Amino acid sequence: MFHLLLEQRLQEAVAAVLPGAETGAVLVRPAADPKFGDYQSNALMALARERKLNPRQLAADVVARLDVADLCQPIEIAGPGFLNFRILPSAVSALLGDALRGRHLFFVPAANPRTVVVDFSSPNVAKPMHVGHIRSTVLGDCLARTLRLLGHRVVTDNHIGDWGTQFGMLIVGWKTLLDADALERNAIAELERLYKTVSARSKEDPATLERVHAELVLLQSGDETNLGIWHEMIRLSQVQFDTMYARLGVKFDHTLGESFYNPWLRGIVDELVAKGIARESDGAIAVFSDRSGPPKDDPFLIQRDGEWTDNPALVRKSDGAFNYTTTDLATLDYRIRTWSPTEIVVVTDGRQQLHFRQFFAAFHRWKPGVATNVKLAHVWFGSILGDAGKPFKTRSGETVKLADLLDEAEERALAVVREKRSDLDDASQREIARVVGLGAVKYQDLLPNRQSDYVFSWDKMLALQGNTSPYVQYQYTRAAKVARDGDFVVGPDTKVLPVEPAELALARHLANFGIVLASVAEEYRPNYLCNYLFELAGLFSSFYEACPVLKAEGPVRESRLGLCQLVARVLETGLDCLGIEVTARM
Ligand code: ARG
Repeated sequence: MFHLLLEQRLQEAVAAVLPGAETGAVLVRPAADPKFGDYQSNALMALARERKLNPRQLAADVVARLDVADLCQPIEIAGPGFLNFRILPSAVSALLGDALRGRHLFFVPAANPRTVVVDFSSPNVAKPMHVGHIRSTVLGDCLARTLRLLGHRVVTDNHIGDWGTQFGMLIVGWKTLLDADALERNAIAELERLYKTVSARSKEDPATLERVHAELVLLQSGDETNLGIWHEMIRLSQVQFDTMYARLGVKFDHTLGESFYNPWLRGIVDELVAKGIARESDGAIAVFSDRSGPPKDDPFLIQRDGEWTDNPALVRKSDGAFNYTTTDLATLDYRIRTWSPTEIVVVTDGRQQLHFRQFFAAFHRWKPGVATNVKLAHVWFGSILGDAGKPFKTRSGETVKLADLLDEAEERALAVVREKRSDLDDASQREIARVVGLGAVKYQDLLPNRQSDYVFSWDKMLALQGNTSPYVQYQYTRAAKVARDGDFVVGPDTKVLPVEPAELALARHLANFGIVLASVAEEYRPNYLCNYLFELAGLFSSFYEACPVLKAEGPVRESRLGLCQLVARVLETGLDCLGIEVTARM
């Protein structure tokens, strides 16, 4: 929070010294090294360079106009013109007091709320959700939660894959091989069996392949029987998706699958052709490069043998069917028309990078006026690896089903809870294991830089020590329990007065919660929040070792109890942004 107060006053001082200067880039950030104080600004050096001024002189002039005596010690001008700010304990105390009274939790809601569409999870119908879906689901949910907490208007949309050539196979299977009892027992497993069987047969038997194609054409041309079967398959899949989302605590405002956009596809292709953006190529229609920019930034060009050659994006196949790109163009257009967003974020795996570069570029050419007003972001992530850097698979070499993975996480957590909390009854143990198990899976996924691959490890993610969810959840439990045991209530005169180094370090870290939330939302990087919470948990633990709380007396006891309560609130709120629950006992 302090950075905002300092930033505002610094910008005013800069405006006074350099009338007309663009002060938006004059930022204050937490100092990288506590040696240099709590906050730092290097903005004046850039301003001096632009205006050919002596940076130290500019810094001195600005500082002379800068009144921050209520917040920090006299400002230090370091090196060629850095400003170093050291926050006064009295200011820290006032900030914590406001937080205790519920005036803020170290962040302020966005002054100009953005409307952000977040497209995430988006599994394909008639297939079980597998471990790959955890990343898109958990990342997207975290971004949506964080943006909402910061006061933005968020529209979540699950763009399920409910259209495409796989339905030819599925309908043939449904008509010829369906086992009604199996469907009743486990619909998705039965659909998967149908798909696999027909897919294998059509590789060997041309007649099956022909039938698959015929059923698909019937479906696409609106045949009632096939549409009925297709609807039923979507409904059955949705039941499975909903079970999974309920378990993960994930909600969507909309589930507009690919098929929703069918009515617009033909018109879009016609328009692209009319505008010269797409053209015919071997019976198909594709978007080609307009050669307007440098080849290395052009997603429709690729370098082969030292030459730049065409790398077009198909929008209509030679058989008349439309492509992923076409649907995505329609989707983007619909979202902009319907919700007028400032930003559209799509979360998928990294293998789709070229697709997104191509269709964002195609959209810019199709709707230039519209596209420049919306920030389009493809938030991509790496893979989950098993041992020895290989893709994460079951022992028999199959993809790991998400439901099985979550079951195992809860079971493993339960074994630990049973051992550590044998005093609790079965239901309480299970509830703790549920919260810890699911939290561990989510946290492990959110902690690495999302663009790197990570190695899945049960032992690491469930460890009570280290940068893990159980560790952070446990420190929450402790902090909340101390505040509870101390019968802490906030009164009008309650003061938090951090004095000891461990108290001050904790208090200063609390003050930076908002800046971290903002950078998560800005850069779409939940790992910043994981690291912040881990550090907070560690600072709390050191504080708790160094400073008696319940045994302290009078105002010191009050102050420390207040700190515990704020730590608990920030940990709980931060974990909630990650989609992770907490429990009163662990
Ligand atoms: N269904 C796709 C998949 O399974 C993800 C869709 C993402 N959203 C989009 N608008 N392309 O990879």
